[in-house]
Amino acid sequence: MVMFTAPKGVPEYFPPRSAAFLAVREALSAPAQHAGYEYVELAVFEDTGLFVRGVGESTDVVSKEMYTFTDRGDRSLSLRPEGTAGVMRMVVEQRLDKGALPIKLWYAGPFFRAERPQHGRYRQLQQVGIEAIGIDDPALDAEVVALADEAYRMLGLTQFTLNLTSLGCGACRPEYRERLTAFLDSLELDEATRERAALNPLRVLDDKRDEVQSKLIDAPLMVNHLCADCSDHYDLTREYLRAQGVLWTEAPRLVRGLDYYTKTTFEFNHPLLGAQSGIGGGGRYDGLMASIGGDSLSGIGFGLGTDRTLLACEAEGIDVVQGPRIDVFLVPIGSAARLVAVRTLAQLRAQGVRCDMSFGERAMKGAMKAADRSGAPVVLIIGEDEIEAGVVTVKNMEDGTQSTVPLTDVVTFVSSKAQIIPSERQHRS
Ligand code: HAM
Repeated sequence: MVMFTAPKGVPEYFPPRSAAFLAVREALSAPAQHAGYEYVELAVFEDTGLFVRGVGESTDVVSKEMYTFTDRGDRSLSLRPEGTAGVMRMVVEQRLDKGALPIKLWYAGPFFRAERPQHGRYRQLQQVGIEAIGIDDPALDAEVVALADEAYRMLGLTQFTLNLTSLGCGACRPEYRERLTAFLDSLELDEATRERAALNPLRVLDDKRDEVQSKLIDAPLMVNHLCADCSDHYDLTREYLRAQGVLWTEAPRLVRGLDYYTKTTFEFNHPLLGAQSGIGGGGRYDGLMASIGGDSLSGIGFGLGTDRTLLACEAEGIDVVQGPRIDVFLVPIGSAARLVAVRTLAQLRAQGVRCDMSFGERAMKGAMKAADRSGAPVVLIIGEDEIEAGVVTVKNMEDGTQSTVPLTDVVTFVSSKAQIIPSERQHRS
């Protein structure tokens, strides 16, 4: 017998943890939805060229980690390693940029990177992302950062940190890059590091090795060489962040794994996640649209790692799923009772009560076990005696008390008894 397993590096979410995954995904997008961001469902694979041009040929993500294949029409396609390039392609293709600006969009789903799998580093990774396109306003930078900060806080996370910097623009970065290259040329570096420096000298600043970092102490930093426009933009962004009570750390050596970033750039980290501590990141990407053949519109956004945010919640001991998954569980005993249960279930569901019943020809003991496992705080027992008397036994699973309610009143009784419906459901309804 062949036994199939999920491909390496693909985390799957199944009960009970899948409920927590959904809750995290919902929480990560909620602040953006409240702020008027509209949903987009993106292509899961794209023309390989989009990522090569948009994300950057020199990045590990594009050069080493893409799942690229040739389709039956001999086209080179790649599973999306990230979402921003695809959003920009959609905006240009669908002419969304011809409407009101900024265009504010959000998305969620899987992305694919052929990385070496480890705890928190997956080949199929999940993100919730937003992009605000078409207006170059520091207030928008601050909004995007604040929405991520709010999402993490709403989940109850307290230990995450925000690292913030500005990566300059097409006017000031080339000059800074030359300065950094000259500095790196003056150092003794190994061959591989030299090659990285030739591709993108900024990436060397991110080297994790102490012996390299010790040589970089006096390296010139982008934030000290911003042009007046970038400098003003960064000052205002920080002023607006302060106005919203967002706390951050200046991170002048922050380097992101994607090439499109300009000006405001940020990363959220969680100290309890070990090597894969980045729970989300993003920034401005003012040249991206033009690089894929669109107009020269600016943009800023983030990608929050759903898998890692869930791990962070677990590490902080936060129970993101509150309350039971259903409110009421029905236990019919015998075929006449089953018909009543099926009807009652439909009526309760129509009233918005979350409910389930015991399926199969189970005796009382087995059915009550299923009721217990369901976690429902209220169980409706419908046995032969109840059918005869035209009643239902209502059992409060929290204190074990029982009462009988006429069958004709049970839907009204259950849906109106606020005290037996979990408080969490009342919030949502
Ligand atoms: P990114 O930093 O490459 O940015 O990814 C965003 C987040 O996705 C990371 O902070 C991390 O939490 C999660 N992530 C990335 N790779 C993995 C992995 N292999 N396993 C688990 N989680 C992972 C972007 O993708 C940009 N598109 C974000 C953005 C949007 N920038 C502007 N707009």
